[in-house]
Amino acid sequence: MKQKKLLYAGKAKSVYHTDVKGKLIVEFRDDITAFDGGKKDVLKNKGSYNAEVSAFFFEYLGKNGVKTHFVSMIDSRHMVVRELQMIPLEVIVRNVAAGSIVRNYPFKEGTKLDPPVIVIDYKDDSRHDPMLNDDLIVALKLATPAELRKIKKAALEINRLLFDLLAAQGITLVDFKIEFGRQGKTICLGDEISMDSMRLWDKKSGESLDKDVYRFEKGDVMATYNRVAQRITSSSKKR
Ligand code: ATP
Ligand code: TYD
Repeated sequence: MKQKKLLYAGKAKSVYHTDVKGKLIVEFRDDITAFDGGKKDVLKNKGSYNAEVSAFFFEYLGKNGVKTHFVSMIDSRHMVVRELQMIPLEVIVRNVAAGSIVRNYPFKEGTKLDPPVIVIDYKDDSRHDPMLNDDLIVALKLATPAELRKIKKAALEINRLLFDLLAAQGITLVDFKIEFGRQGKTICLGDEISMDSMRLWDKKSGESLDKDVYRFEKGDVMATYNRVAQRITSSSKKR
């Protein structure tokens, strides 16, 4: 497969056309950003760690019946995916209160959320990704009510599968963000699931094992990403 013209360069990944119809190559770059792009850096090998963990999760989810865009890895940072018509929603699933819901609502950090809470933001940097509700999603024609039901059902199933996998590695899945797209009529999981898009806490020490280490300068970001990537991908719970 040959990499062709750049389709889209985002904050952390670049997406390329290929010579195969319906297939794209996603390059996981070493760029890292936080606070709406207000904090930016380049951290050597970050892209490879995120690509490796994303590929591992996509394969695990695929084996467990979740439809994903993942096809294969070309090398440590280039992933072949099925082209999707992306739905501009950031679907966030929360098992424990942390981050923006603690800043914006009277939750105490660390409060267990059972059942999990789904929050959906509008993926629009120029509007700073405002939070949506079901009526707004339908009124804005971002998704039909039937699609929205499928998206929420898939998000909860993905949460259940990832929560169990990570718990077996001594890691609490606090929250994460995913994106979906359409392939014909099928709703498919796209984008990535990595340390950049999850909040992970070590069960014993409570230490952050994700982008919060970068956001809040809690330690050596790449040492953390390296360790957590090894912990996750050594998991044998693949079913
Ligand atoms: P953010 O960081 O807020 O998620 P971004 O657009 O800067 O936004 P990147 O991850 O750098 O994010 O860019 C990757 C882009 O590729 C995203 O816009 C994502 O929606 C898109 N994308 C991911 N998977 C696919 C796919 N299978 N088909 C088409 N586009 C995809
Ligand atoms: P959230 O608490 O809403 O935002 P913040 O990290 O600014 O406090 O984030 C919840 C989870 O979703 C967290 O694991 C990070 C992830 N996320 C993204 O990956 N991208 C985003 O644009 C947002 C808003 C969240």
